[in-house]
Amino acid sequence: MKVHGTPTRTIWPVAGADAVEIIDQTALPHSYRVLRLNSLDDVAQAIRSMQVRGAPLIGVSAAYGIALALSRRADDATLLAALQTLAATRPTAVNLHWALARVQACLLPLPAAARAAAAWLEAGRIADEDVDQCRRIGAHGLQRLLSCRRAGHRLEIMTHCNAGWLATVDHGTALAPVYAAFDAGIDSHVWVSETRPRNQGLLTAWELRQHGVPHTVIADNAAGLLLARGTIDAVIVGADRIAANGDVANKVGTCLKALAARAAGVPFFVAAPRSTIDFACATGGDIPIEERAADELRLVHGLDGAGHPGALRQLPADEAVANPAFDVTPASLVSALISERGTCAASREGLLSLYPEERDG
Ligand code: MRU
Repeated sequence: MKVHGTPTRTIWPVAGADAVEIIDQTALPHSYRVLRLNSLDDVAQAIRSMQVRGAPLIGVSAAYGIALALSRRADDATLLAALQTLAATRPTAVNLHWALARVQACLLPLPAAARAAAAWLEAGRIADEDVDQCRRIGAHGLQRLLSCRRAGHRLEIMTHCNAGWLATVDHGTALAPVYAAFDAGIDSHVWVSETRPRNQGLLTAWELRQHGVPHTVIADNAAGLLLARGTIDAVIVGADRIAANGDVANKVGTCLKALAARAAGVPFFVAAPRSTIDFACATGGDIPIEERAADELRLVHGLDGAGHPGALRQLPADEAVANPAFDVTPASLVSALISERGTCAASREGLLSLYPEERDG
C-alpha cells in the first residue's frame, strides 16, 4: 500500500545492517514515523507496546526478532530463550506462535553457524507469504462483498479495529477486499468504528485515506443504529485466533457488532489467513484473552490545541478498570470465513474443507 504515494510495507529488513524497520503505529494517525529495531529486545518491546500490532504482523515481527537474536549468537540456548521471550509478548494472536513454531522447526536442526542467514531468509519468506495470502483474501472477499451489494447503491461496508495493511505486511485481511473493490472501480464506502480504548479504528481511517477509499469514522456505540437502519451491506473484520469449531477471537467489541448484524440480517464476515487458525484450540472458550493495562482506559491520547502529542486523564488512577483486549464471536454469528484458499462456513467441517490436510492432524 502507499504512504504519501510511495509503496510501503509495514516491516522490512535494512540492507547491509542487522536491523529491521517498522512503521511506529503508536505515533499514527498524527505522525508517520519509521523506527529501527536492532535487537530481539527491541522487537519484543515493539510488540508489547503495540508499535507493531495486528495478528499477522505480530507473527512476522517475531520471526525477524529471532533473526536479530541469532545474528548476535546462534547456539541452542540463545534460540530457545529468544523463542520464549517472543512467545510471552502477547497471548491472543496465534500467528505469533505459528511463526515461532515455524522458525523453530526450520532453525533448530541447523548447525549454529548456518542459523542466522537461514533465520533472515525464513522471516523474509513468512513476510512474502503474508503479502500473497492477504492479496488472495482480497480477491475471495471481494466476491462475497459484491454478493451483498444492493442494486443501484454504493457498497456500504462496516469494519472494526484495524485489519488493514498496517496489521499485516501489506494489503490487510478484512480491508484487502475493500482495497480490491476500490481498485476495481467499485463505488464503495467504509464505516470505521473508533475501537476504544486503543482506537485502532483511527489507523484504519488513516490507511484508507492514504489509499483514497471513502470512509466515515463512527463511535463504537453507533454501529447498532447503522445496522438496524439498513445502512450497511456487510460487516467484515479480521481475527486474532479462529478456533477449530469456527469461533473467532478478535478485538473487543467485535462480538457486539456480530450480534447487531445478526439482529439486522446483515452478513458478518471474518477474513484471516491460515496462520490465524488454531486447529489445536477446540473452541473460543479455550482462547486466552489478553488483559491490558488499566491506563489504556484511564488516559486518552491525542494532540492538544497547539498540535503537541500528549495524554489526558479521564479517570482517577485508583478507579477500578477492566480492560480485556479481545472477545470471542461464536461461530453461529459468522456468515462465512474468508481465507487465502477461499470462503467456508465457520465450523470445523467448513475449515477442513479449505484445509483438508488438517483432517488427521
Ligand atoms: O490489539 P491489536 O491491535 O493487535 O488487535 C488487532 C486485531 O484485533 C485485528 O482485528 C486482528 O489482529 C486482525 S489483523 C489482520
